[in-house]
Amino acid sequence: MTVAEGLHFDCRLGEDIAPVLPEIAALRRLLFRQWPILWTDDGGAEHDDLSAAFGSPRAIAVLVWRGARLVGAAAGLPMADEVTDLRRPLAAGGIDPRAAFFLDQAVLLPECRGQGVGRRLFAEREDHARGLGYRWAVLAAIERSPADPRQPPGWVPLDGLWRRLGYRPTAILAHLAWKEAGEGVATAKPLRLWRKELVAASPGPA
Ligand SMILES: CC(C)(COP(=O)(O)OP(=O)(O)OC[C@H]1O[C@@H](n2cnc3c(N)ncnc32)[C@H](O)[C@@H]1OP(=O)(O)O)[C@@H](O)C(=O)NCCC(=O)NCCS
Repeated sequence: MTVAEGLHFDCRLGEDIAPVLPEIAALRRLLFRQWPILWTDDGGAEHDDLSAAFGSPRAIAVLVWRGARLVGAAAGLPMADEVTDLRRPLAAGGIDPRAAFFLDQAVLLPECRGQGVGRRLFAEREDHARGLGYRWAVLAAIERSPADPRQPPGWVPLDGLWRRLGYRPTAILAHLAWKEAGEGVATAKPLRLWRKELVAASPGPA
């Protein structure tokens, strides 16, 4: 399957994700160092988190390859199996985590953006979640001040992209800790939860 020229999509489920975890972790480390996440490597934690998350048999990873090189990746798993604990704020905000499928950060090399790949990364995961009977797709977007001097010139916030793909912001803010460039220790960062309704009414996951 190709979308943009020369790119190949590969959807993996459950235990088939494990063999590619090192490549996914390497791509995430590379792109998470950039704005807006500004994550700093602290010795493999990213890989450990991923391994735990994708122990879920209902997890999905959508991979984008150019030849043998991984250029994009986006994962998802039931919110009930999510390991960084977004469940509590979600439930406190009135959304049943058992009805929600979590879409983790999508990453794509800059030279591959703007060609519809991101839209496909979302559609594949939403189809998977819909097929399992989940009502909501939920993503967590870091909230950065527009006045932050680290914001690169010309950077366009991704809120417009989430909206374009059908997501709407909830009033729910979650906090996750990571160490950002320039920080000595990990500090909590605010992430807004956004959601999209996948099915009008659902009896819940199968
Ligand atoms: C998020 C990401 C994967 C999107 O990938 P992409 O391939 O550029 O997205 P697409 O080209 O499929 O765009 C999807 C749609 O959103 C629109 N769009 C893209 N960026 C947008 C923006 N910043 N604001 C508004 N709309 C935007 C596109 O026009 C397109 O609309 P259409 O399909 O109706 O024409 C990519 O930007 C990325 O890897 N960013 C860096 C990592 C990151 O910041 N992840 C999120 C951390 S919170």
